[in-house]
Order: sequence, then C-alpha cells, then structure tokens
Amino acid sequence: MCGIIGYTGDRDCVGIILRGLERLEYRGYDSAGLAVLEDGRVDIRKAQGRLSNLAELVKASPVRGNIGIGHTRWATHGEPSYINAHPHADANQRLAIVHNGVIENSYTLRQGLAQKGIAFISETDTEVVAQLLGYYHTGEMLTTLYRVLPMLEGSFALAILDRERPDTIYCARKGGPLIVGRGAGGSLIASDIPAILSYSRDIFFLGEAEIGAVTPEGVSFYDSLGNPLEKTSVHIDWDIDAAEKDGYPHFMLKEIHQQPKVLEETLRHYVDMEKLAVRRERMPFTPAEAKALRRLTLIGCGTAYYAGLMGQSLIRRLARLRADCEIASEFRYSEPLIEADEAFIAISQSGETLDTVAALRLAKAAGRPVIALCNVIGSTVAREADQLMYTLAGPEIAVASTKAYSAQALTLMILALDLAHLRGHMTTAELKTALRALGEIPGQAERLLGQKERIQYFASRHFNCKKIFFIGRLEDYYLAMEAALKQKEISYIHSEAYSAGELKHGPLALIEEGALVIALATQSRVLDKTMSNLLEAKARGGKVVAVGQSPTPELLAAAEVWELPAADERFAPLLGAIPMQLFAYYMALQLGRDIDKPRNLAKSVTVE
Ligand code: M6R
Repeated sequence: MCGIIGYTGDRDCVGIILRGLERLEYRGYDSAGLAVLEDGRVDIRKAQGRLSNLAELVKASPVRGNIGIGHTRWATHGEPSYINAHPHADANQRLAIVHNGVIENSYTLRQGLAQKGIAFISETDTEVVAQLLGYYHTGEMLTTLYRVLPMLEGSFALAILDRERPDTIYCARKGGPLIVGRGAGGSLIASDIPAILSYSRDIFFLGEAEIGAVTPEGVSFYDSLGNPLEKTSVHIDWDIDAAEKDGYPHFMLKEIHQQPKVLEETLRHYVDMEKLAVRRERMPFTPAEAKALRRLTLIGCGTAYYAGLMGQSLIRRLARLRADCEIASEFRYSEPLIEADEAFIAISQSGETLDTVAALRLAKAAGRPVIALCNVIGSTVAREADQLMYTLAGPEIAVASTKAYSAQALTLMILALDLAHLRGHMTTAELKTALRALGEIPGQAERLLGQKERIQYFASRHFNCKKIFFIGRLEDYYLAMEAALKQKEISYIHSEAYSAGELKHGPLALIEEGALVIALATQSRVLDKTMSNLLEAKARGGKVVAVGQSPTPELLAAAEVWELPAADERFAPLLGAIPMQLFAYYMALQLGRDIDKPRNLAKSVTVE
C-alpha cells in the first residue's frame, strides 16, 4: 500500500523519484505526487490516477531540484483525489511530507489544531501530521519530531522535507517499512527495495520508532529518545531484472513461470539433494526441540494463511504434532490461549503485513519463540522473529501472490518432513524417499506450464460465468481456498471455496446452469468422495472441471480434466496450484482486468 521514495544528492531528483514510484506501482495506488525543494521553497506536483498522469503534469509544469520526495497513495482517509494526494504541506509551506500508514487519532488531533486556528485543505491524516510538525516546530526538525511523534497513534512511515534544511530528508517509522540506501551521487529513501535497487544494493533498514536524517553525504539514525544509533547495511543480491517483465505481458504470468526455478532454489536451500538430507543448520528446530514441541501455531493473512493451512495439515499428518493455522487479524484480537510449549511461525511474503507483525509481537510478548517464513530480506517480520526461514522466490511484484505461495507451501512441506523424521514418525529411508519425490516437483511444474493453452482455451469459453466454486477435501480444500482467492482477486468473478463434503449442507442450492465447479483432487484417499460431489454439481447444471492425477476413463467422460503429472500426493498440491493460477490469470485477461494491480488491493497491507 502507498509507496515512498526520496532522493538527496547531486542529480536532479525528479527522474529518480518518478522511476522509483514506477517500481512501487505494484503496491497499489490511486494518486501520486512529489515535492521538490528548489530555491528555498517547496514545490509540489500531484495527480489523481495513474503515475503517467503525474509524469505528464511534470512535463507540462516542470520542476527541478536536488532533493525531493515522492509518493503513491492508496486512499484510507478521504477519497482518492488530487486534494488528498500526498505530499502535504504545513500552513506556512515550510514542510512537505509523505506518509504510509494510518494515524488512528487523527480526528482528535485535527480538532485540536482547528481550535488553534489551523485550516485544513484535505481530509487526510497525513495533513494532520504536516500541520502538527508545522505548528510545534522548534526551529529544528529532529527536536520537532521528538515532540510530535509521541502524539501519533497508529502506524506511520514518514518522509519529510524542510525548506530550512535544503539538503536533508527526515524520516521516521512506526509500523510501516522504510529503507535508506546510498547511490546515484547521493542518498535515497524508500518504502520498498525495488524502488532504489538500481542505485543501491547496500540497504539500511529503519527500525521501529527510529528516526533518520538523510543527506547527500550519508545518513544518521536516532532512537526515539534522540540517542544516535550505529547501523550496518544489508546487502541485497536480488537481480534487478527481477523487477522487469522480461517480455511477459504481466508480472503475474512471469512469476507463475518462475515457479519451477523458485521451487528448485527453495528446495536446494533447505535440502542437500545429493545426500537426500535436510540441511540441519537451516531448520528452525534442533532434534531435542522437535521432540519436546507440543504445539505449533502458524499465522498469516490471505495467501500466506492458505499456505499455512497446507503446512498445518502436513505437520499434523506427518509429524503427528498439534499444528493450527490462524488468520493473523483474528488471532491478535482473540485473546489467544498461548501455551508454554508452543512455538509460532509467522508467514508473510512482504514481511510487512501489519496484522501478521502484530500477531508475531503478541506471541513474542508471551515469551514464545517465533519463526519467520518470509520472502523479503530485512523486513519487519524477518527482523523481529527469533529465527528465520527465507523463501527464495525473489521479488514478487504482481499483487496476486503466486511464486511466494509455492515457496511458502514447499518450505512448510520440508519442515513437516523434518519434524516427522525428528519426532520418530518417519524413518531416514522414508525421509529420503520423500525428499527424492519432492525433488521431482520443479520439473513436473515445468511440464505442467507447457500445457497452459488448454486452460487459456477453457477461459476463453467460460469467462462470462457469474460464479465459480472450488471444492476439495483435506489439502485440496486448502488449495481450493487459494484458487478462489486468486480468482476473485484478479478476475473479480465471485468465487468460493468449499470443503467438498459441505456442498450438500447448503451451497449446492447455489449450483445452477452457468456455474463453474472446479474440483481439486490430488488426494487419493478422498478422491471418490470428491468426484461424487463433483458429479452431484454436474447433475444440477454446473459445468465441472477436475484437477488431479491419473484420471479414470469415467471421469474423463464426465468432466473437463486438467491432468497433473504423477507426483507423490503429499506434494501434489504444489502442482495443483499452477493450473489454478493460470486459470485466474486467463479469466482476468479475457475480462480485460488490470491483472498486476487489481482494483482496491495493495501488494503489502501495512494498515488494518
Ligand atoms: O506479504 P504477505 O504474505 O504478508 O501478504 C498477505 C496477503 O496480503 C497476501 O497474501 C494477499 O492475500 C495476496 N494478494 C494474495 O494473492
């Protein structure tokens, strides 16, 4: 959600800011703007809608300078509009600020300032911060920040220009991410790595409640009490091209196609495939800890939650361990019963999802160990957890998560196998057999992608359908949830996931001519049952599709079948995810949707 970029150095900042904002487009936005310090004044340009509108505006009404900040806004307080777009200034036009996050007490603060005679232009909580900084300005920005920041409740990542300090960008965070890098003849700040990756690979992460003063020569960090902080940078070795489309029409299609490589790399990171052994040093539990563990709680949101459900299922089944996956936004307010011998896994691609971060903190406050399953190096989840399992998906740009999901599910499968082995529910020979089978998955995924035309053709014939039901049992039910989310997220077709056995308990009444019913069927122990549920849907007029391995001649005659390569069925859901992603993609393509940036959604959800 919202994107921030800033530059101070010896180059003109406008091009750097616009390019940086382009790299942040994937986060979702509805307006954009920039502020530049030029000849002792703050010059602001803002435009509603796409970034190209801002670029046009800057062309028509040029602005230049060596220091500036830019922003893509995703509306929270006030509608998407020119007026509400960032940057916002204080009453004296001394300051310009951009902000990610939500100031929860902005209404009260606004009223207080209004009583002091401050007139507001916009409806935003961000302008409240700008006016507070202006009103309480001590003449020096750092002391002003120490005065004003404690007044703010909620979350924020702030970048601030002060015309009296024409070489410095001030930044502060609580909740939302902010990074600082050196490059392009100066220094840069951003809310996310891709924005500055072409200029800087050694990145400083602003910590919780920290403040930064960024100049062309470097950056000084302070804690919330004003004490200087020493920080070391983290080297980012992501491929810059990873943030380009590489000839694919959309990032989502590119990322779907990257999955065989992502699966291979994630697998080899955690498993020595030559020895068929889990790399002990990269696993979160020692043998003694694994044996002592009584309960594992996984937490995440959206797709990360669905990957967690897949992990929950395999950990229960294979490792005979009580594992429960919880929605982070529910967990954090549920007064959860946290037990003494319980460990947590916080799953997050971005590592910045506010609810997941809050749930992680709750578990830590209860004294429980938290393992992060995370894709973004240096993110909040990665930094605050006690241990880290990285997924090696590389930067995921499309809002709809695909390769990160696969990497999360695979990592949890490897963890389930390791726990099963350490807890004595799987022999070493059985573990090797399982790992060998897991090693087949990347190649099988590659072959599956080769059959995408069939799904594309099906989408071209059914994109007008009004509703889609995804059904499955056990792991396939969790896969169905992810399939339905993907579909609604980018095609906007109403899609629901049901446990196949639940159809008869209500949802069957919704099946009629024109409904699509897709059965995920990778688990042989419930295959017959799921298939009979599918045929019940067919008998009520549904157009039915089965996704599974080795279909019987009867099934081929009764349904459209998307056949999966013959894989070990413990891992087959990894393959089943691919046709579901392609199906959502091609339906959305037919419908002319904005696939990489679906309406109302953001890549990184840093507000509640
Ligand atoms: O970055 P996270 O994994 O924490 O994000 C969680 C969800 O917001 C995310 O998975 C969302 O559901 C995706 N857009 C789904 O494709």
